[in-house]
Amino acid sequence: MAVPPQVSEDPVAPADLAESTDLQERARRNLWMHFSRMGSYDHEHEMPIIVKGEGCYVWDDQGNRYLDGLSALFSVNAGHGREEIGDAMAAQVRELDFVTLWSYAHPRAIELAERIAGLTPGDLNRIFFTNSGSEAVESAFKLVRSYFKATGKAQKTKVIAREIAYHGTTMGALAATGIPVLRTAFEPLMPGVSHVPNTGSYRWPEDRDPLWAADKIEERILWEGPETVAAVILEPLQNAGGCLPPQEGYFQRVREICDRHDVLLISDEVICSWGRLGEYFGCQHYGYQPDIITTAKAIAGSYIPMGAMIASDRVFEPFSKGTAMFAHGSTFAGHPVAAAAALANIDIFEREDLCGHVRQKSPEFRAALESLSDLPIVGDIRGDGFFFAIELVKDKETKESPDGEESEDLLRGFLSGELYRNGLICRADDRGDPVIQFAPPLIADTEQFEEIVGIVRPILDEAHKRLTA
Ligand SMILES: Cc1ncc(COP(=O)(O)O)c(C=O)c1O
Repeated sequence: MAVPPQVSEDPVAPADLAESTDLQERARRNLWMHFSRMGSYDHEHEMPIIVKGEGCYVWDDQGNRYLDGLSALFSVNAGHGREEIGDAMAAQVRELDFVTLWSYAHPRAIELAERIAGLTPGDLNRIFFTNSGSEAVESAFKLVRSYFKATGKAQKTKVIAREIAYHGTTMGALAATGIPVLRTAFEPLMPGVSHVPNTGSYRWPEDRDPLWAADKIEERILWEGPETVAAVILEPLQNAGGCLPPQEGYFQRVREICDRHDVLLISDEVICSWGRLGEYFGCQHYGYQPDIITTAKAIAGSYIPMGAMIASDRVFEPFSKGTAMFAHGSTFAGHPVAAAAALANIDIFEREDLCGHVRQKSPEFRAALESLSDLPIVGDIRGDGFFFAIELVKDKETKESPDGEESEDLLRGFLSGELYRNGLICRADDRGDPVIQFAPPLIADTEQFEEIVGIVRPILDEAHKRLTA
């Protein structure tokens, strides 16, 4: 088991050159990284090897320090190097290493389920653990089908998701993912999933009704036939596309639509829970009540994989009596060591009031990023909590986006490498229009906001020159 590194004053000593060259070669030979162009790593383009983390920072094997402006992948929310999470995990291994939740319970899973139920809004009281976000989404899709079969509406099987949204990579979750480049190689996917417009309003006509995107969901339900639609899956603030916030009243309208047509609302909070938007759950930030929440990433601080599907009492009810069963599960979900890590993680959240810190500091973080708005490449700055994106444009007046080739050159040919070389890990992404995204650990403060802006400003300035040269 990996115990987090000791917090220390000492910088990481650069690894022996021979040792780090050796790691590069061994990685090139045997490691298959995810969503990575493996062919792009060669003797001139080395892969980053991260060896240590502490607070908001990580270090590579050469001793270089980076501000982790992405919390690894929107996930190390309480920061790196929390010894107490490692201690809790080690203590759990000594007490009970493993028992599966297939028919057995164990104290940490019981305590964690109770603790999470105490943090969720309304009657979201039933916690079904998973090992990842994709599995949580997959579980939610199986649950909604199974729920409607159990309640006499077996025809209700379809799911509605939003364009460009990312909901994971397993075949069901991938069907909800609305990013063509991630889907095409694996088609055909789970049938019965369709996509509606997202809330990205940067290029909307000025006279568009603010609840247009919400109403598109009802249009789709009616088109499909309400008797066939089981669920709508939405992130509170959509990540892919670049931190797309909902319009005022969006989720309240969606809730009404779902109620009108007996459609379940799944709030996919794999990123937006655990303080990212300043509340334990993103739906609390935007004031709506889902039927199911899916979560993962920061639930156990990312010190060990864990996820969960959280269902309302109403959705759980058909499975609560007699011989009824939700016929779904996996060996490791709710692992005692992961549950111990999650409990220690929640202790930290409560003791340090991380949600309160995000609420208090979010306006300052936003203002720091908005100080970049004089740059000609900065089109839009949007987001909430500790989760923001800057959309990059060729022309601010016309909002013209770089085309595919320009975007490839801008993001992969320049920005990603340049930001990293200058000590900042963040995300340069063009799954929608090109953006850079920031989601630092929730302990970040003025110093980190200034550091982000200090690194980003000259690089964006140079990026615009390249784009318009
Ligand atoms: C909203 C959302 N749902 C689901 C997933 C899938 O989670 P995982 O990568 O843990 O399978 C992600 C991952 O980033 C996500 O952002």
